[in-house]
Amino acid sequence: MMGSYPQWLATGLLGLVWSTFAAAAPPPEAASCAACHGAQGQGMPAANYPRLAGLPAGYLAEQLQHFADGKRQNAIMAGMAKPLSPEAIQTLAAYYASLPVPTEAAGSPPEAALLERGAWLAQYGDLAKGVPACFRCHAAEGVGVPQHFPPLTGQSAKYLADQITAWQQGTRRGDPLGLMQTVATRMSAEDTQAVTAYLAAQKPKAAVVSQPGQGGGQ
Ligand code: HEC
Ligand code: HEC
Repeated sequence: MMGSYPQWLATGLLGLVWSTFAAAAPPPEAASCAACHGAQGQGMPAANYPRLAGLPAGYLAEQLQHFADGKRQNAIMAGMAKPLSPEAIQTLAAYYASLPVPTEAAGSPPEAALLERGAWLAQYGDLAKGVPACFRCHAAEGVGVPQHFPPLTGQSAKYLADQITAWQQGTRRGDPLGLMQTVATRMSAEDTQAVTAYLAAQKPKAAVVSQPGQGGGQ
């Protein structure tokens, strides 16, 4: 059956209208998030509120679920996540994943010795301790690999270090295969300080690969 206009035109126009709309208007569910995570989801490094912009949608949705069910313990985020419906979680995750990656580093470079040690851990790890290179899973330059490996740049050193401590103490769980918990428990306080200071001083960039079959750069 032939319509009055070709199907591809209708679909294309809809896509265009939708993407314009999605870029311009945050969903109403995001109104309460902006106070801490910023109007563009860029985060607030000085206050250790993490960036959400450009993080993989699957990762974001999972974390909201973890705050709600206590796999990840944080009083503020538990209060924010518990009332969200599964649909709201999906909407918020897709929205923040679609926002542009911030261009500024979250922190300034630490003193040379710390920077050098941090850069080494990020790129090569410390095999004697069984700590693999961070970039092995989180990709070169720490840009992340959607959907399960979040970026490590554009986050404050304190936020990153708090997460490693949370895995060591068992207050953050639910990471796929316990991969990150294994890494965290092998890290000393000095390792954590060096690598998080190095990562925070790097300029964030968009992820360059995605899992086969999951489409796009998100
Ligand atoms: C009052 C401040 C505040 C508000 C409002 C807030 N958050 Fe958060 N958010 C935080 C803090 C603090 C953390 C870090 C928690 C931790 O250390 O585990 C966080 C972490 C997160 C994370 C984990 C990020 C990551 O990289 O793992 C997600 C996802 C998130 N928030 C989403 C949201 C969404 C969606 C909303 C709105 C519904 C929201 N937040 C509202 C303070 C806030
Ligand atoms: C074997 C793979 C693997 C390696 C190696 C690895 N990570 Fe991870 N990391 C993960 C996974 C998977 C997650 C997501 C956890 C989740 O979904 O809860 C993660 C999450 C994180 C987070 C939380 C980010 C956020 O936004 O809350 C931090 C911080 C982190 N990793 C730091 C590091 C550092 C530093 C290193 C190197 C010393 C490292 N990782 C090495 C797999 C890895």
